[in-house]
Parts: sequence; structure tokens; C-alpha cells
Amino acid sequence: MIRDIIKEDIKYIYKLVDSFDNNFKQIYNLEGYINKKDYILKCYAINKQIVGFIIGILIDKEYDLEYVFVDSLFRKKGIATKLINSIVEDKKISRIVLEVSDNNKKAINLYKKLGFSVINKREKYYKDGSNALLMELII
Ligand SMILES: CC(C)(COP(=O)(O)OP(=O)(O)OC[C@H]1O[C@@H](n2cnc3c(N)ncnc32)[C@H](O)[C@@H]1OP(=O)(O)O)[C@@H](O)C(=O)NCCC(=O)NCCS
Repeated sequence: MIRDIIKEDIKYIYKLVDSFDNNFKQIYNLEGYINKKDYILKCYAINKQIVGFIIGILIDKEYDLEYVFVDSLFRKKGIATKLINSIVEDKKISRIVLEVSDNNKKAINLYKKLGFSVINKREKYYKDGSNALLMELII
């Protein structure tokens, strides 16, 4: 099931991402984002265990998707698709934008499958020298 992230979830989310992204905690001070009305943070839970989540900021009717993550044991089961679709179904939102490294083929496939298209490219944008693709979905 998909639901909003609450304060009690934060420690589980940090644990989930820990081995994958050691900058996550520093960049996403989740405590500060919860209850901010312009942030939308949702998680996907199976039997109360959080196995995926999405973070983004709502600016007017535009959702800037900052992070989507699924536990490696639960990937390729449609969970990221469901999380993004929960944003697509939100009546307040008419466009979703995101940036992704052009090395991240899994994520690019995911976004393309959902109907996103590439609207811009930022050369050597990431620390590892990879380019950033700016993608959008008009709803
Ligand atoms: C990218 C990520 C969020 C996908 O989550 P997921 O729940 O496995 O995605 P879904 O099951 O909804 O997959 C939907 C589509 O994405 C693409 N995709 C997902 N995993 C893929 C893989 N390992 N290889 C190629 N394409 C892949 C496919 O097109 C897939 O459709 P299909 O199952 O019909 O082939 C997940 O791999 C992840 O958390 N990665 C690490 C974090 C990350 O890179 N996030 C994105 C940038 S912030």
C-alpha cells in the first residue's frame, strides 16, 4: 500500500537507503520535510515494512521528483511505477519533472515506460562526470 511518510518512518527509510547512497541522509533532512505542505513524501509498505519511497516538491502545479527508491529485494515488481503513478493521479499536479544521470539505465527505462520524455541535457553535471537528463511528463 502507498501512504504518506510520517515521522516514525524516517529511521527505516534512512536504513533502507544506507548501503546504496551514503549522501542521502545529509542531502535529505527528512525530519525537516515532513509536514511541509509543498513537499510530497510517500512510501510503499508491505505488511508494515517500507520497501520503497518517493520524494518531491510541489511548485504550483508542478511536481519536481527528487528521489525514488525501491529496496533491491523488491525491485522489478512495479513498485516504483505505482509510487510515480500515485503522483500522476494527484489532481493538483499537471506536470512532473526530474533529473537523472544518463548512466542510470534502469531509472531512464522506468521514466520512459511511464511516458516521460527528455527535454534537456546537462553535460558532465554529476560528480562522476555523467550527464544529467532533464525529463518531463505532462499529465
Ligand atoms: C530505478 C528503480 C526506482 C526502479 O524501481 P522498480 O520498482 O524496480 O521499478 P518497476 O518495477 O516499477 O519497473 C518499471 C520499469 O522500469 C524499468 N526497469 C526497472 N528495473 C530495471 C532494470 N533492472 N533493468 C532495466 N530496466 C529496468 C523497466 O522498463 C521496467 O518495466 P518492466 O518491468 O516492464 O521491464 C530502482 O531500481 C531503484 O531504486 N534504483 C536505485 C535508486 C535510483 O536509481 N533511483 C532513480 C534515480 S533517483
